[in-house]
Amino acid sequence: MTNNLDAITPEASAEQIFEISGTRFEPEAAAELWPRILQHKWLMSEKLGRDVGLRVACIDFLENMELADREYLAYKRQDLLDEMGARSISREYWDGISDSQPPKQIVQRKIILPLTRPDLSQKHGVVPPKAIIFFGPPGTGKTHFAKAIAGVLAWWFIEIAPSMLLVEGTAKMGANLRAIMEKVRTLDEAVIFIDEFEELAGRRDEADRLDKSVTNEFLKQVPLLKSESKNLLLVCATNYIRQLDDALLRPGRFDCIIPVGGLNEDERATILQHYLNKLCAGEVDLNLLVKMTSRFTPADLEYLFQQVAQYAFEQELATGTDYRVTTATILEILPKIRPTLTEEIITEFEKDSLTYSRF
Ligand SMILES: Nc1ncnc2c1ncn2[C@@H]1O[C@H](COP(=O)(O)OP(=O)(O)OP(=O)(O)O)[C@@H](O)[C@H]1O
Ligand SMILES: [Mg+2]
Repeated sequence: MTNNLDAITPEASAEQIFEISGTRFEPEAAAELWPRILQHKWLMSEKLGRDVGLRVACIDFLENMELADREYLAYKRQDLLDEMGARSISREYWDGISDSQPPKQIVQRKIILPLTRPDLSQKHGVVPPKAIIFFGPPGTGKTHFAKAIAGVLAWWFIEIAPSMLLVEGTAKMGANLRAIMEKVRTLDEAVIFIDEFEELAGRRDEADRLDKSVTNEFLKQVPLLKSESKNLLLVCATNYIRQLDDALLRPGRFDCIIPVGGLNEDERATILQHYLNKLCAGEVDLNLLVKMTSRFTPADLEYLFQQVAQYAFEQELATGTDYRVTTATILEILPKIRPTLTEEIITEFEKDSLTYSRF
């Protein structure tokens, strides 16, 4: 597409369209149509893999004007989704989480049900959250929950990594965040996930000037996102809720601040069973394993089973005979894994839960 085609006057646009199609438009109308005809020419060329002539594109556009505009928007939307690394997430993430896990219950009550029953939520004036924070120790499942929400709602999952904001150096971080959020707001259905949120939205009294500008930008962006009537949900995750700026934590910005902590016996049983199903297992005492993994996070359990799988693989390789994982196999490996949750981490988390939780 050449620049001189882009830059023609309204009168010249009307003339061009008339010459090609025999239809005369007022110059203002023609000026509005002309860029859309050029867009259509570009889209047809992209689709057909060859340069489509202006005449063909113009006639096709005028014949299918509404459809052509919709197609162009859909195409651009896909471009944007690709650019932002949008992923669709399987519903299995959500289904695999034990129903007794408190964050799942909160999300189900406050987000999923109001969205799936818009009639009832409208009747009672329930507004589903648009911005939430998950906080808790490492490996407890914050990222997993964010993905699970996208999966169960069948919305796009888009992660904004700090590196995306750093592409042009630290000085542009605030501006990049603004640009990304502007794009996000054009989407219809998406979960926007920001991990290690304290890195981007730390306390301004402890931050240097650049960090401050990003925190300030967040303070502006959250209300903007919330004012959109689209299906957009911002999910931020942090291990260090205390490091977030107070202004962000006050009611009005984030709708829910949800703790994600250790697992109870039921929840551990669900996850243990999930990993056991993937092993080549013989007799395994699930109840015993549940008792012996009280300080394990989901990440620790995943690591434990990776080690067990590797062990079983090597055993069969060495002996050449069928190897089945038993309780004894797991008990041999278990002591070698140090669980993430210590007395101290649990106490701190409980304190934070009292201070910061809101849902
Ligand atoms: N409720 C759950 N059920 C099953 N598996 C889970 C659950 N929560 C987390 N996992 C698995 O445990 C691992 C760690 O979870 P995840 O990465 O979500 O933790 P996190 O809280 O985001 O950790 P970090 O603070 O380090 O970012 C992942 O492989 C995830 O798939
Ligand atoms: Mg995470």
